[in-house]
Amino acid sequence: MFKSIYTKLVATYLSLFLLIILMISVFVLSIFYKEFTRQAEQDLINAGDKTNVLMERYYNNEISKAELTAWINAMSYISNIKIYILNPDSSILHQVETGEEMSLGQYIKNDISQIMKGDSIKKMVPVKLETGDDVIYVGMPLMYNEKISGIILLFSPVTELNLILREVIYTMVAIIVISVLLCTLAILKISIRISEPIVNISEHARKIGKGEEVPDIEIKSQDEIGKLATSFNEMKKELRVAEQMRREIVANVSHELRTPLTSIIGFIKGILDGVISKEDEKKYLSIAYEEANRLKDLTRDIVEVAKLESGNTKLNKEKFCINDLIGDVYIELETLVKEKNLDFIYDEKDKNVEIDADKSRIKQVLINIINNAIKYTNEGYIKITLEKENAYSKITIEDTGIGIRKDKIAYLFNKFYTANEYGNATNGAGLGLNIAKNIIDMHNGTIKVESEENKGTSVVINI
Ligand SMILES: Nc1ncnc2c1ncn2[C@@H]1O[C@H](COP(=O)(O)OP(=O)(O)O)[C@@H](O)[C@H]1O
Ligand SMILES: [Mg+2]
Repeated sequence: MFKSIYTKLVATYLSLFLLIILMISVFVLSIFYKEFTRQAEQDLINAGDKTNVLMERYYNNEISKAELTAWINAMSYISNIKIYILNPDSSILHQVETGEEMSLGQYIKNDISQIMKGDSIKKMVPVKLETGDDVIYVGMPLMYNEKISGIILLFSPVTELNLILREVIYTMVAIIVISVLLCTLAILKISIRISEPIVNISEHARKIGKGEEVPDIEIKSQDEIGKLATSFNEMKKELRVAEQMRREIVANVSHELRTPLTSIIGFIKGILDGVISKEDEKKYLSIAYEEANRLKDLTRDIVEVAKLESGNTKLNKEKFCINDLIGDVYIELETLVKEKNLDFIYDEKDKNVEIDADKSRIKQVLINIINNAIKYTNEGYIKITLEKENAYSKITIEDTGIGIRKDKIAYLFNKFYTANEYGNATNGAGLGLNIAKNIIDMHNGTIKVESEENKGTSVVINI
């Protein structure tokens, strides 16, 4: 029934409001009623006490019977109370407004025997007399010379109380109806304010899920809902960027894969069709072999980039001596460097430099960078320098290679970015530096490239 936030909000607010109003009404009415009957009871008791005093004076012959009657009638008239004075045997000693038959209900008779024992009786919940009148009444013993010499009964009609109560209830109902109406309007407005952006957001989310373009959500407030809308708009922007990146990557990857595959297929077909001569077969097969190897490395790198970017890669950190690790890499790559007739220098400015990092990942970074240096350097040297800098270790890989044009340096860490102008001869897909940067970032380190065209390049890692 309450499926939408809107109806939930309205239902909750309204029922809460009604409950509170109801509780306040009951509270006010009961206080009012209590106070009213307390007042009425007090009036009856006062009149009873005064009647007792008059009776004493009458018994003491201080006033005549006529005076007594006049006093009591006057009192009764002014306070709208009916006063009866009964003898102990219940015969009526005095009754106001003579001529009116006094008929006592059965329970009043029961009360009389109670009063004769000396108790006062107060009936504040209206009782119906045989005459049909609703009354509240007080009965008390008539005391003379400290003895019970009769009963005083005092009745007050409740019609007046009823009238006042009814008026109070009417006024309260009117106030309640008006405030419920006003409150409902306010609640409706607030609920719309709250639920509308949420409905909007879910509608937008549904469309985005389907791949539709949607405009930004209008931000109308700075509260949590406003923040939700802001976050949603930001998320949408990020999604668009991510989608754009995904498209680019798919395009890049398929391009990078297609080129070597095309040449491999071409060579094999040439051999199968006999277009390539027997003498050349070996040459083309070895090119195909190299291309296939390159494809293998490329797919490995693509998977690596995807893994690193997904944020699911965990580092296996340990404390180790970076001098030793660089030493290992040096030995591994030495033959490659020597094959190109380059000098390979390892300058350990500090010994026993310890770092806390993922050893195999750092090794991967070093191999990537040094491989670049080998690839893009034709004469001169490659020099690795290790030194301590504050709490960091600083590794510089310097070469005297072809260098990189200034305006390209900023893009080197982008995926699939290659800066060399010598075609694809170097066989790079432009993922190596991106992987290196991702790994160094994960270690909260920094990696920078400084380069001058035709002079050489330095990659500086701080970790
Ligand atoms: N030591 C270097 N000397 C000259 N150019 C470099 C060097 N290292 C990287 N580059 C340039 O940066 C680009 C990106 O490097 P990288 O991400 O490793 O890709 P790849 O080596 O696969 O081309 C390379 O294509 C190259 O143009
Ligand atoms: Mg590379």
